Amino acid sequence: MEESKIIEILRILENISHIKDIDTLLEQVLFEARKIVNAEAGSVFLIKDNYLSFEYVQNDFLYGNYENSSDYMYTKKKIPVDNKSIAGYAALTKKSLIIDDVYNISPNNPYSFNRRFDKLSNYITKSVLTVPLINNREKVIGVFQIINPTDKNGNVISFTDDDSFLADLFAKQAVIAIEKAIMTREIILRMISIAELRDPQETGAHVNRVGAYSVEIYKNWAQKNGITDKIIKYNKDILRIAAMLHDVGKVAISDSILKKKGKLSENEYGKMKLHTIYGARLFSNSGSEWDDMAREITLNHHERWDGNGYPGYINDLNAKKIKFKNGKKGDQIPIYARIVALADVFDALMSQRWYKDPWPEQKVFNFILAESGKHFDPSVVESFIQVKERIISIWGKFS
Ligand code: C2E
Ligand code: SIN
Ligand code: SIN
Ligand code: FE
Ligand code: FE
Repeated sequence: MEESKIIEILRILENISHIKDIDTLLEQVLFEARKIVNAEAGSVFLIKDNYLSFEYVQNDFLYGNYENSSDYMYTKKKIPVDNKSIAGYAALTKKSLIIDDVYNISPNNPYSFNRRFDKLSNYITKSVLTVPLINNREKVIGVFQIINPTDKNGNVISFTDDDSFLADLFAKQAVIAIEKAIMTREIILRMISIAELRDPQETGAHVNRVGAYSVEIYKNWAQKNGITDKIIKYNKDILRIAAMLHDVGKVAISDSILKKKGKLSENEYGKMKLHTIYGARLFSNSGSEWDDMAREITLNHHERWDGNGYPGYINDLNAKKIKFKNGKKGDQIPIYARIVALADVFDALMSQRWYKDPWPEQKVFNFILAESGKHFDPSVVESFIQVKERIISIWGKFS
């Protein structure tokens, strides 16, 4: 057993223990687990409603570098927890499993390899290490698979018992961070479902999408703006959660306005605009970076690049009577709010609302391009267009 590998694992565990967002965390867990054995590919499943739901796949061979290696993350794929699949078998038996060649599994085994994914992607899976994620109550919460470890020359080799031992050690600790992140996500979703009771269109699906689009846009924008990978990783973790909460202030808006079938009157729209203020109040005890970002987003997600948005500069968020001033303009608007503004409008236009039908996709994209420099920051629109395919797959996953 290589001692350096154990030290490496301890270092990784220390790093991931700070990640709050479940998606960021799973991506990182998988990436690090693969790195330990130089594996070309891997995937993570979480158990949801008795299915193994496919959360992440990474494949350097197919998708090139790490940042682009998770194109399939927004798939709806799931497999039953039974002994017919490799992942299902590991979940049922709670044991890790090494397979040297998935195309030569002995027929005496209950499980077999599902060739569909290889066929779809033109990839050849060979060695697979499958590890159940087991919590301290002995419950299996998911499975991860690491695929095709390689030697120095890039040739696919087999997993060793040492690899399996290290992966189990890693999994045991990673589960603690994963359960914590799942709980954070659940608390956020509960907050959102309270908002949803008020406005059934403010759904989990909508907020999940706005969070996911925002992260994709931000990654592209930040790379172009010279922000380091390390900072990007840190910020996108907070951004997803903060973006999901952009409209949480709608809880304080009355039903007659929120659920109005037709157009709002001037007066009603004025009241609706206060959802930005109500939201920001929830995060006004500045303290954590998380609160700060959530406040920036709730307050500023309806500002416009050309200065015609709302609420503008507000002296006292807690004032009894809020007076809207001129909108903030250009980069006076925090970047996270400029990003969420686009993500939110994109999703609103694609969706059914009380007051509108969905628009066709092409019309939505044309509108966003036409609003570049008016409603939206041109650099944000540019990033949005560059990640268009991911945006569309997010739309598909949560609709
Ligand atoms: P929302 O439905 O999520 O819409 C978010 C933003 O998407 C809107 O911010 C607006 O910028 C954009 N958007 C949505 N639908 C359309 C559309 O048909 N055409 C265009 N050009 N843009 C659209 P906005 O206007 O500040 O509205 C904030 C929130 O106020 C909306 O969130 C919605 O909850 C409510 N709202 C706005 N207008 C109406 C309305 O006429 N009737 C009702 N019942 N609610 C409205
Ligand atoms: C899959 O990619 O379908 C999962 C492979 C397996 O665990 O059988
Ligand atoms: C709505 O569900 O009508 C509002 C959603 C949003 O503004 O993000
Ligand atoms: Fe809003
Ligand atoms: Fe929204």
